[in-house]
Amino acid sequence: MAIEGLSRTHYCGNVTEDDIGSEVTLFGWVQNWRDHGGIVFIDLKDREGIVQIVFDPTQSKENHRIAHTLRSQYCIGIKGNVRHRPEGTVNENLKTGKVEVLVTEVKIFSESEALPFPVEEYIDVNEELRLKYRYLDLRKPRMQRNLITRHKASFAARKFLDSQGFLEIETPILTKSTPEGARDFLVPSRLSQGKFYALPQSPQLFKQLLMISGFDRYYQITKCFRDEDLRADRQPEFTQIDLEMSFVSEDDVMNVTEGIISSIFKETLGIDVKPPFKRISYNEAMDRFGSDKPDMRFGLELKNLTDIAKTTNFKVFSSVANSGGLVYGLNAKNSADFTRKEIDDLGKYVSIFGAKGLAWIKVKENELQSPIVKFFSEDQIKQILDKLEAKTGDLLFFVADKPKVVYDSLGALRLKIADKLNLRNDDEFNFVWVTDFPLFEWNEDENRYDAMHHPFTSPVDEDLQYLESNPGIVRARAYDITLNGVEIGGGSIRIHRSDVQQNMFRVLKISDEDARLKFGFLIDALKFGAPPHGGLAIGLDRLMTIILKEESIRDVIAFPKTQKGVCLLTDAPNAVDQRQLNELSIRVMQKKNKQ
Ligand code: AMO
Ligand code: AMP
Repeated sequence: MAIEGLSRTHYCGNVTEDDIGSEVTLFGWVQNWRDHGGIVFIDLKDREGIVQIVFDPTQSKENHRIAHTLRSQYCIGIKGNVRHRPEGTVNENLKTGKVEVLVTEVKIFSESEALPFPVEEYIDVNEELRLKYRYLDLRKPRMQRNLITRHKASFAARKFLDSQGFLEIETPILTKSTPEGARDFLVPSRLSQGKFYALPQSPQLFKQLLMISGFDRYYQITKCFRDEDLRADRQPEFTQIDLEMSFVSEDDVMNVTEGIISSIFKETLGIDVKPPFKRISYNEAMDRFGSDKPDMRFGLELKNLTDIAKTTNFKVFSSVANSGGLVYGLNAKNSADFTRKEIDDLGKYVSIFGAKGLAWIKVKENELQSPIVKFFSEDQIKQILDKLEAKTGDLLFFVADKPKVVYDSLGALRLKIADKLNLRNDDEFNFVWVTDFPLFEWNEDENRYDAMHHPFTSPVDEDLQYLESNPGIVRARAYDITLNGVEIGGGSIRIHRSDVQQNMFRVLKISDEDARLKFGFLIDALKFGAPPHGGLAIGLDRLMTIILKEESIRDVIAFPKTQKGVCLLTDAPNAVDQRQLNELSIRVMQKKNKQ
């Protein structure tokens, strides 16, 4: 690496005591500029860290003159000699804190205008501004650490998968819709006017075809595209560590996944995560935690009180319990000191999930405070307190509703209370496999079943007989991996028989004609000696967010989009030339402004 006669010997952050006495050449950005009694001290920074460089007029008047022209974020190269920092100026917190470099030669490569925000450290800057100047935001040590660690993670995954005989094979980006439950991004075709490619929601169908081709073990670290409503842990384009294997059962895929995760944690955080990870069935996860991605770092488990509720005089509870609904309770341990306002706020919070109310009981020293105990007999109260293992000082919450509302609202309340009680510890990494998912979920709006995972997931063998007669009870050979209450990956054993695949489409009310139109190639491929196969995909962005203890998925992606799907740096998406539209025979209708 040589430029303008300078050839780098070290990264700034890597100059140490071992280099004392030797000459080094460094490239980097000016960080801090200080003049102490005529001597200029500068922190020079590159991706590995900073080192103090010194311009002494007694050594070189010219260099010292140049030093006075340097400003923050100028990009420079220097040659100099490494020496001990004088007594009293050593910085123990810095890797290079014991040394400094006395400059003998300096070159300014480029100057910098005043920055729109400081990049020295993590100072709270408005995110829109950060994203507009993302290339500057990425100079921050924290963002550099995030992307370097992300590199280490994907490299660890590649190394591990390679060691297990997986082949990295690329699949198309311009392709046909793969149903993963989101809307497709479409790309108009110029050569086939009026037709569109879809960007892949995942490589799902191609990886299955690669198994049929005989590649046996496939992986790819790849972008997926989903046009869905964005949240803190979702991006319209995101990265999967995607894999597929032939001649396997669930355990084989889970073992490989645990291997990938272990390698990633070892290489990024130096932590041994110790597989095998816990497993819990979907039904148990819903019953105990109200969620199919249970955060099991803490207790606060839900309890089913439906049977007790059936017998009470509290209409809200008994009518729900006697008409197929559920009544569940949750013990917020040691929270009897929550104020009425706090309880009311929690009531408002659960209403987001459809709960019509949030009943509660405060267990005080000699009494129960509650708007609902008056409806219960002593025996019923005792049963409720026993079931919730209530002790003095506890606060009990209850929701009565249809199952989805009960699980969603108490599942979310459980996390909210855990946050209030500081029970969610960032330093703990709690992996849980969720298994035995239902194959279908009922879509009330459209009055039909949807595939809970995707329509290529195999039913459990012994449930195959109910596929058409009673789809609601059929279990899937699907598994999700969760970490601290976040779904970081999911997969399944696939259908490898053409007839079963076609039955599956029928249950999903996809007509034979439609199935042929959309997935004819897969149905055909399954007729040519398809091996039994299965796989999984890890959401790399989500995993990195947890490893790096970031709040937002955007902080682990170099160039992310906002919640509205906009790239503030490039201004994508943007309007295009009329000429480009003409070539595609596309006319854009003006949307009427909604008042
Ligand atoms: P699934 O749809 O569960 O499975 O996706 C796998 C993992 O990808 C992550 N993920 C996302 N991350 C960020 N932004 C998003 N919008 C987003 N959507 C999903 C999640 C999720 O667990 N083809 C199947 C895998 C298979 O069956 O092998 C699939 O894509 O962490
Ligand atoms: P009410 O009799 O309507 O004043 O309700 C008494 C208590 O029951 C209040 O604390 C309500 O928030 C609560 N409540 C009302 N509906 C429900 C419900 N579906 N599930 C749980 N609590 C409820």
